[in-house]
Amino acid sequence: MDRILVTGGAGFIGANFVQSSVRRLPHQRITVLDALTYAGDRRNLSPVADDIEFVEGDVADPELVDRLVKQSDTVVHFAAESHVDNSIGDPAPFIRTNVVGTFNLLEAVRRYDVRLHHISTDEVFGALSLDTDTRFTEETRYDPSSPYSATKASSDHLVRAWTRSYGIAATISNCANNYGPYQHVEKLIPRHITSVLTGIRPKVYGAGANVREWTHVDDHNAAVQLILQNGRLGDTYLIGSGQERSNKQVTETILRLLHQPPDAYDLVPDRPGHDLRYATNSHKLRTDLGWTPQYDDFESGLANTITWYRENRSWWQTAKLTTEARYAANPPPANS
Ligand code: NAD
Ligand code: DAU
Repeated sequence: MDRILVTGGAGFIGANFVQSSVRRLPHQRITVLDALTYAGDRRNLSPVADDIEFVEGDVADPELVDRLVKQSDTVVHFAAESHVDNSIGDPAPFIRTNVVGTFNLLEAVRRYDVRLHHISTDEVFGALSLDTDTRFTEETRYDPSSPYSATKASSDHLVRAWTRSYGIAATISNCANNYGPYQHVEKLIPRHITSVLTGIRPKVYGAGANVREWTHVDDHNAAVQLILQNGRLGDTYLIGSGQERSNKQVTETILRLLHQPPDAYDLVPDRPGHDLRYATNSHKLRTDLGWTPQYDDFESGLANTITWYRENRSWWQTAKLTTEARYAANPPPANS
């Protein structure tokens, strides 16, 4: 497990993964493959720039993927188009990166007998209702709602099929919503924090009743490391902190932590196909691999995240302008 190829390593979760891997596993040789889309940023890797090899390129490029996989022992596949709202506006890049990109990696790991860990999402299971305490398990039927989650579901199915048909050495993890440093300002928590910091009222979709399970990015990546070390080949692991909050609760907490009135936000038209609730049962990861989330207090994790965005304004200022312009130009369809 010494030569690791990390796809999407300049994005939010991938960059945190690369930074912590360099710190904790210095013997590894890490190559990052990242297309540097609007969501990727070389600056996310600057603390470890001298410790890794960075290749700017596309997972949908089969020759490049072949060359990089050939020289690796393990691939950790984070690269994806990751934002649901964007997928509703324009699904094409999601098919290309999430489906074709994963296919290219699978063909290459099959050729060279390289271990693959595929990073996926709990959104593949669709929505849970608000009035039960049901949670997704590794056995829950796939039922994706958005173009994003449908492409992630497709990529999971491809990984399973390549495992069963060709015997590749692969594992999959499906994680709940992440938060923490370096998350793009298009996503709920950083969007709200940076809105308040720039005098914009946060926008909450629908009635704000939708529930997400918030997992700190470091806890997600610690789980991925455990799966790489001790995970059973062919298996899937769900990752989630258990910290469920409605969007209204998250918004009010951010406002309170930033010393704003709790109602200083606007309800705006809902996201089409908006999943009501996600919640995972991560019992398997906890019992089989001994994972325990370190950020078991969502509010203090959120306070740390707010501090990071306060102290790193230059990191997000330009992206904030382009992101808000993009949201303004693409409001949800009127019939939603
Ligand atoms: P992100 O959008 O912040 O980063 C994605 C990275 O992939 C960027 O650096 C981007 O440049 C790169 N990329 C995009 N298209 C590419 C291509 N064609 N070739 C190479 N690189 C490309 O996403 P994230 O939030 O860090 O998510 C990473 C992974 O984790 C994704 O697979 C996502 O589905 C999954 N996931 C995310 C969350 C979450 O809450 N953010 C939760 C569960 C799972
Ligand atoms: O569950 C895991 C998934 O979590 C990941 O697979 C995705 O990559 C990641 O983007 C995230 O998806 P969500 O759609 O849940 O995240 P997002 O941050 O876009 O939205 C979180 C919730 O907040 C969702 O119910 C929509 C709502 N929302 C979002 C934004 C950006 C708002 O109410 N207002 C907003 O401005």
